[in-house]
Amino acid sequence: MTARKIIIDTDPGQDDAVAILLALASPEEVEVLGITAVAGNVPLPLTAKNARIVCELAGKPDTKVFAGCDAPLSRKLVTAEHVHGKTGLDGPVLPDPTMPLQDAHAVDFIIDTLRSEAPGTVTLCPLGPLTNIATAIRKAPDIVARIQEIVLMGGAYFEVGNITPAAEFNIYVDPEAADIVFKSGAPLTVMPLDVTHKALTTRPRIEAFRALGTEPGRMVAEWTDFFERFDMEKYGSQGAPLHDPCVIAYLIRPDLFSGRHINVMIETAGDFTLGMTVADWWRVTGRAPNAMFMGDVDADGFFALLTDRIGRL
Ligand code: RIB
Ligand code: CA
Repeated sequence: MTARKIIIDTDPGQDDAVAILLALASPEEVEVLGITAVAGNVPLPLTAKNARIVCELAGKPDTKVFAGCDAPLSRKLVTAEHVHGKTGLDGPVLPDPTMPLQDAHAVDFIIDTLRSEAPGTVTLCPLGPLTNIATAIRKAPDIVARIQEIVLMGGAYFEVGNITPAAEFNIYVDPEAADIVFKSGAPLTVMPLDVTHKALTTRPRIEAFRALGTEPGRMVAEWTDFFERFDMEKYGSQGAPLHDPCVIAYLIRPDLFSGRHINVMIETAGDFTLGMTVADWWRVTGRAPNAMFMGDVDADGFFALLTDRIGRL
């Protein structure tokens, strides 16, 4: 099996960091063409710095990292330091990166890569607000037909919102960008909170990372130790949902996930429902399906894969 060519668009964030480690630890299945940072969990300078910290932790300092959009298309940036801490990677203390940021803007890298690689051979993996992806589509509509698939973490249906009662964070931060992506016509696979809230970092799962006895394993354990307090206080859950690694795990083991091909629209005007993913799970609207909306995951299989791959770094 040839490795899938991917671009990871990300706002690290501890869970983004674990997703990046999983991708960099799985060269047989995914070839990371580049990592594009976007403003989200924390402002852009920090997400661009954190992406490089993670690449160096993975022992891959040659990975190309690009800075992208520093604010949503038409709204003020909303960040999530209350979840991820001031640095976005709170938990362990990590050295500043020494690898450089690429000169090109992330949006231009996305466009140029899709135009230069063979059509249908590049998968976009957004793990944060969809600002970079939507900006690339607006700037170069021709790239949509060249995208193999967009596999993103975002949205919610049965789990409702985590930043408002109705909306999940990545979609809420830039609903106009999400609207562009969900209406683009590109093949879309969505990992909503309905799935990620079933991928919880229970204590034994965190200890399995620590037991790897490696620096990456220790980092993942300490990030999830920090990251889980928000969800445990809010939901009373046993552990934190590892949202973003679900995207990469899907590329490696799609059989771990199940869902439905349905219509999903983005609320961009609601006073109380702004950023809601209006998922037609019961197919009552007659609107054409535009997304594979995941609903379930084999959590034990997911963590077994994650622990095995992190252990390879
Ligand atoms: O709602 C969870 C999502 O928002 C995750 O991608 C997390 O990293 C934040 O970006
Ligand atoms: Ca993220």
